[in-house]
Amino acid sequence: MAQEVRGVIAPGKDQPVRVETIVVPDPGPGEAVVRVQACGVCHTDLHYKQGGITDEFPFLLGHEAAGVVESVGEGVTEVAPGDFVILNWRAVCGNCRACLRGRPWYCFDTHNARQKMTLTDGTELAPALGIGAFAEKTLVAAGQCTKVDPAVSPAVAGLLGCGVMAGIGAAINTGNVGRGDSVAVIGCGGVGDAAIAGARLAGAAKIIAVDIDDRKLAKARTLGATHTVNSRETDPVEAIRELTGGFGADVVIEAVGRPETYQQAFYARDLAGTVVLVGVPTPEMKLELPLLDVFGRGGALKSSWYGDCLPSRDFPMLIDLHLQGRLDLAAFVTETIQLDEVEKAFERMHGGDVLRSVVVL
Ligand code: APR
Ligand code: ZN
Ligand code: ZN
Repeated sequence: MAQEVRGVIAPGKDQPVRVETIVVPDPGPGEAVVRVQACGVCHTDLHYKQGGITDEFPFLLGHEAAGVVESVGEGVTEVAPGDFVILNWRAVCGNCRACLRGRPWYCFDTHNARQKMTLTDGTELAPALGIGAFAEKTLVAAGQCTKVDPAVSPAVAGLLGCGVMAGIGAAINTGNVGRGDSVAVIGCGGVGDAAIAGARLAGAAKIIAVDIDDRKLAKARTLGATHTVNSRETDPVEAIRELTGGFGADVVIEAVGRPETYQQAFYARDLAGTVVLVGVPTPEMKLELPLLDVFGRGGALKSSWYGDCLPSRDFPMLIDLHLQGRLDLAAFVTETIQLDEVEKAFERMHGGDVLRSVVVL
């Protein structure tokens, strides 16, 4: 039987979000209904609300979530009712060219639930990133559920579903940071700080945090930054070179998503170093680089999609490391809030002191 629960809806472009009753159908073949326990507030939710992603309003927002599987549809073998899971927004197919070549984060055929959740009048909802988890329950593809150790708090676990995974993965998967490496991270929001935590986990010797806000730099230190640079006051390229014996960092991670910070990242890396772009640019942004510098500097220019993660491999591992005290994921939860406080959390997002607000249910 379809169920009625509460969920946070973005009704139209730039309109405030509101809690409404939504209808969650029983899971069909390959689907699961999850009782959501926590869901982080991400910039992407704000972009959906602002109409910056698509105009398929109304959206059911929320996509950094953890909860318990309530029921599963026909043919589901990945998870069973009662499993504690983190939701991911790329349930890979396993059969396309990208999957078969061992690069499932580029999968061409990722799955979402086929059925739609609706408002009580039957209006179909578009779930943010195919999840829609600012809701007491949500319908997803079973492959979007990854089982992890239930000893972790849901608020902490949910964050791995998006921004924190993107940052950690940019360091450990895309950047392939190794023991003794020097790493610079430009932009120390939730994603950049997660990259710093990932670099520490991977054994980086030097971790240089760059931001324009001293409060962000202070927080970055608590997550593993060994040096900080305020790029409003100091040229970050010069500073990073100076801190690395004149060479530049082995891996530079750009976690802002702007041409000027990408350019800084490009020149702040060592010859043959790696630049990782995890900040998401807008369609209008352009990069201008002398081709001779691309040729002359060698190395690798990479972008990181969802931290190039494989949820079934990375989520349980990172939760285990957290439970062992080797990765502080709790540091990313700034505050816990209720479903009806999402709009306020959007307003606080750019205040400088919030890494993540997390709705707990
Ligand atoms: N130089 C350095 N840091 C900057 C600059 C700049 N020119 N401009 C902004 N910043 C800093 C901000 O002060 C902030 O600390 O970048 C950080 C951005 O953090 P958030 O706004 O919290 O964003 P976050 O969630 O970390 O995401 C960063 O990664 O995945 C993408 O879409 C995401 O593009 C976004 C980026
Ligand atoms: Zn695939
Ligand atoms: Zn997100």
